Amino acid sequence: MIVNKVVEERTRRTEWYRDARFGMFIHWGLYAIPAKQEWLRSVEELTKEQYEPYINEFTVENYDPKKWAKLAKEAGMKYAVLTAKHHDGFCLFDSQLTDFKSTNAPCKRDLVREFLEAFRAEGIKVGLYFSIIDWHHPDYPHYGDMNHPMRNHPECSNENRDFDRYLEYMFGQARELLTNYGKLDLMWFDFSYGEMKGAKWKAEELVQMIRSLQPDIIIDNRLEGSGEDAGSIRTLNPTTYSGDFASPEQMIPPNGIRDEAGNMIPWEACITLNNHWGYAARDTHYKTAKMALRMLVECVSKGGNLLLNVGPDAKGEIPEESVKILKEIGRWMKQNARSIYGCGYADLPKPEWGRYTRKGNILYAHVLEEQAGAICLENMAGKIEKMRLVKDNSVVEETFYWNLKEFAENAFFFLNPETADSYPLPDELDTVVEIFLKEE
Ligand code: GLC
Repeated sequence: MIVNKVVEERTRRTEWYRDARFGMFIHWGLYAIPAKQEWLRSVEELTKEQYEPYINEFTVENYDPKKWAKLAKEAGMKYAVLTAKHHDGFCLFDSQLTDFKSTNAPCKRDLVREFLEAFRAEGIKVGLYFSIIDWHHPDYPHYGDMNHPMRNHPECSNENRDFDRYLEYMFGQARELLTNYGKLDLMWFDFSYGEMKGAKWKAEELVQMIRSLQPDIIIDNRLEGSGEDAGSIRTLNPTTYSGDFASPEQMIPPNGIRDEAGNMIPWEACITLNNHWGYAARDTHYKTAKMALRMLVECVSKGGNLLLNVGPDAKGEIPEESVKILKEIGRWMKQNARSIYGCGYADLPKPEWGRYTRKGNILYAHVLEEQAGAICLENMAGKIEKMRLVKDNSVVEETFYWNLKEFAENAFFFLNPETADSYPLPDELDTVVEIFLKEE
């Protein structure tokens, strides 16, 4: 049901995005040098003088975005989002409006431009993360702000700070990104908090400007919301700057994300591979490939996307652990991606052994847990035309084994028919069976 123009346009614009399902988030900046994640300056309440000189060490000698793009492609990721500027205000692009940028670092490179070229060359859609919070700019509120590194310093009072001048700067940089770098597929603004939201950012005007420059671009919801509160995108009357998708963070919503009337809306969970976005040298708490893949399957089964993060180090290398996970996911995607791309919510209860994804009349059973005996497709008796193992297109037969007779409202199959059981799983990460449903 289409409720209004904002929703209608959002639905049209996000078509490729809802099909893509899987993207790469890249958090990279000066903070990779102290290697304690991107909030370091705020967490440790560092002054400019303590933090910003890292610019003189930003050499990024191993930065090879072609390598990143190949990895993303191998993992099956269809889009990628790079931090053009994070909260620290350091620009990875050649902004004419500041000196605090990578072209003034020893590397002297426009890292955004190189990123865009490399990823586009691999056929991956490109997006830029742009922080609307800026701890470098003198006109951004310092003292008393919720997050600013100088929040506890009364001597950094806001008396002579001119927020409109800051907005001019913010608009100016957004304009630079949207005019100097060709077609961008997505803009990821981050983030609103407290009073700092929507109108405070002149978000309506900003979105108007963005759309006049790049009519088809997809925009996230954080000009109005954050990971804490999605904003009016969840209502039936979203504002023009409510965004094209909701952006839950470090969690997967229990039932996907829906509007007040229960319609699913586009959403994307952004999740880290260890526990930080920006490079954190001592954080070795990485997820397993199995866990990361399950997150992807869970998102798709609930009608959403997964934007999986990597945090390259100061040299420009994606951490080895992350590379390993992404390659393992890639191995699985190579065989099973058709159960992910273009798939979504199946409108069936979550099965005991795993999850369903669905594309039209095709249901994908993602078997994540081995079962004694047959795998049960609840209430599916008589509905199945045929089944195939996605991995190799081999036939999976519906079974009517003697011990299943009294559960005849269900359909069943064995993953290991010769032994009449379903363990071990043919693919331990996720064994996918494609179920062609009879036309109703
Ligand atoms: C947060 C953080 C940030 C990160 C973002 C990603 O809101 O401010 O550091 O970039 O989430 O979703």
